[in-house]
Amino acid sequence: MSSPVGARTTIDGREVDYFRGTSYYGLHGHPEVIAAARDALTAYGVGTATAARTPAHAEVVERTSRFLGTETVTYVASGYLAPLVLLQALSQDYDVAFADDASHYGVLDALRATGKDAVLFRHLDPDDLAHHLALRVRSGEKPLVVTDGVFPSTGAIAPLSAYLDVLRRHPEALLCVDDAHGLAVIGANGRGSLEYHDVERDSARFCGTLSKAFGGAGGIVPGDRDLAAKIQRLSRVPLGASSPSVPAAAASAAGVRILAEHPEMRQQLWDNVRRAKAGLRALGFDLADTPVPIVSLWGGPSVDLLHVQEMLEGQDILVHHSPPRGYSDSPDVETLRIAIFSTHTPEQIDRLVAAIRRAI
Ligand SMILES: Cc1ncc(COP(=O)(O)O)c(C=O)c1O
Repeated sequence: MSSPVGARTTIDGREVDYFRGTSYYGLHGHPEVIAAARDALTAYGVGTATAARTPAHAEVVERTSRFLGTETVTYVASGYLAPLVLLQALSQDYDVAFADDASHYGVLDALRATGKDAVLFRHLDPDDLAHHLALRVRSGEKPLVVTDGVFPSTGAIAPLSAYLDVLRRHPEALLCVDDAHGLAVIGANGRGSLEYHDVERDSARFCGTLSKAFGGAGGIVPGDRDLAAKIQRLSRVPLGASSPSVPAAAASAAGVRILAEHPEMRQQLWDNVRRAKAGLRALGFDLADTPVPIVSLWGGPSVDLLHVQEMLEGQDILVHHSPPRGYSDSPDVETLRIAIFSTHTPEQIDRLVAAIRRAI
């Protein structure tokens, strides 16, 4: 890549229509995001060389807390580490964990790192979760369920309400959501999967990243002050890992500010998703009716998706071809992942759909 990532991106010297990755609002290339990073770099340097923080880090905490409606936010080195921070903080509040078997690598590594018993349940399946809970949770034990809120390669939405229903049989059970792809994207106010499912007042906890929709970098664990205190006491990550870099913090704060000031960007994203999905449905693809900007095409026997990807690339349109099991949640068949941004023009979306029609 030799330009900022966006709806038009320069790759290997060629400007392309870019439908890959996770910059759902094109904020990574937004002039105000770049200027904020540059100004903070000039003022404070690249980093603090410790876990110390600058005003740019404080601004991230203040702006993301306000955006997400939480008392506070703990800002950590990466989104990958955010589930680890959350699970370490809750380590004294549960006995055994249950995870969707297609959870992100960061979730699965976090489970391993905690050293507690962990059981995998079938992807997106509350009945299988109930089955494993009944088998494994002994009297007096507290379960914790963990899942991605929105799955990164297929865009599937986890059935959080159904999981909470299952968990009502277990007092003090916890639900934790890695909402890396839900935050800023779904929910009426962009507060992510919990808002989307209307379960913000339930005992669900969540974490996420500023490296995708928000246009910056670094992980976040939002919540109340009690959770933040547990993180300080029980998680080694904020203590042992350097703070996110200063330009990353400043860029993130600017990205959050822009999204807060411009709710119409969210509507534009959803409109673009609707347009893309309508066009692809007309070609015969069966797509869930959700606002998630990740569209996953699954090949039938007559559709060679690698060929489709190559045909599109020849027309300077980039989508992502994934082999079977190519990512944490990829199914065991090949897929084409198409990422829709709010900054794609209707013409770009129509050109994409027309190119796919010609290629299949
Ligand atoms: C579901 C999920 N969680 C966490 C991450 C990691 O976030 P980051 O790249 O900001 O470390 C990703 C990134 O791809 C992801 O898809």
